[in-house]
Amino acid sequence: MQFVEANGARIPAIGLGTWELRGRSCARLVEQALRLGYRHIDTAQVYENEREVGEGLRASGVRRDDVFVTTKIWTTHFAPNDLERSTKESLAKLRLSEVDLLLLHWPNPQVPLAETLGALARVKQLGMSRHIGVSNFTVALIEEAIAVCPEPLACDQVEYHPYLDQTKVLEACARHGMAVVAYSPIARGRIKNDQTLAQIGQAHGKSAAQVCLRWLVQQNVPAIPRTSKIERLSENIDIFDFALSEQEMGQISQMGGAKVRLTDFGFAPKWD
Ligand SMILES: NC(=O)c1ccc[n+]([C@@H]2O[C@H](COP(=O)([O-])OP(=O)(O)OC[C@H]3O[C@@H](n4cnc5c(N)ncnc54)[C@H](OP(=O)(O)O)[C@@H]3O)[C@@H](O)[C@H]2O)c1
Repeated sequence: MQFVEANGARIPAIGLGTWELRGRSCARLVEQALRLGYRHIDTAQVYENEREVGEGLRASGVRRDDVFVTTKIWTTHFAPNDLERSTKESLAKLRLSEVDLLLLHWPNPQVPLAETLGALARVKQLGMSRHIGVSNFTVALIEEAIAVCPEPLACDQVEYHPYLDQTKVLEACARHGMAVVAYSPIARGRIKNDQTLAQIGQAHGKSAAQVCLRWLVQQNVPAIPRTSKIERLSENIDIFDFALSEQEMGQISQMGGAKVRLTDFGFAPKWD
């Protein structure tokens, strides 16, 4: 497993996304993933599976300290007291004394950012999370966050795959020592039939999904692909035994002109 260093955090380059994984099958997938070598699990309050993620973690037998666990605070809990209370709730569900990374799930302009980030930093200082960060933040919001947050931010978790250019966010994060963590890294499965990725994969004996994940990791971007299928768990982590050439990296980056954004809501910020 490779790691990405980000303001003191050491983030395993591949993690398991758990959005839409529920109940027993979620616990089973988390357990299996950890047995197969995953060391990074991504959950969120709003996924309603923190309990099962914790169960899978314990069932795997992997030492707690060897696993990087991320959860995210939903936007209705951004007032300082709510943020602390809801973090405690998340920890109780996970049955953990602390997470590795705690993120603001989306920006919420209804609560002043300085207040929310002050509370997030306090939660870190109280030992409830080893690192803190944000998600779905634009360049302007990253700059604002850095200016008011009393603690370093480890990452901005954003949608990133070959069909969406994220150069601006990547540059902003790099300036501040933050990682970009890629969500929907395989464009929710759409890359499966991509001709360019499949062709590049053929040359390396890899699938389109593996080429896509390798392209992210080779940019120092941790990726958190989700699958509900045990056999795909192995496929998505088996990307550390080959490398894409500079030309192949460039060829995939050029696909970003497609501007495919899969996650967008009325409450989303004005994207870069
Ligand atoms: N911060 C945020 O706002 C935010 C937003 C969205 C997502 N996320 C996080 O990012 C994670 C990943 O994003 P995502 O769930 O949107 O999408 P994704 O990981 O890009 O794609 C998941 C889809 O791809 C399929 N898939 C998985 N591995 C495959 C492979 N090797 N070949 C072909 N298809 C494959 C899965 O189907 P099967 O189940 O059939 O394998 C599933 O339908 C989430 O689970 C969540 O943890 C965060």
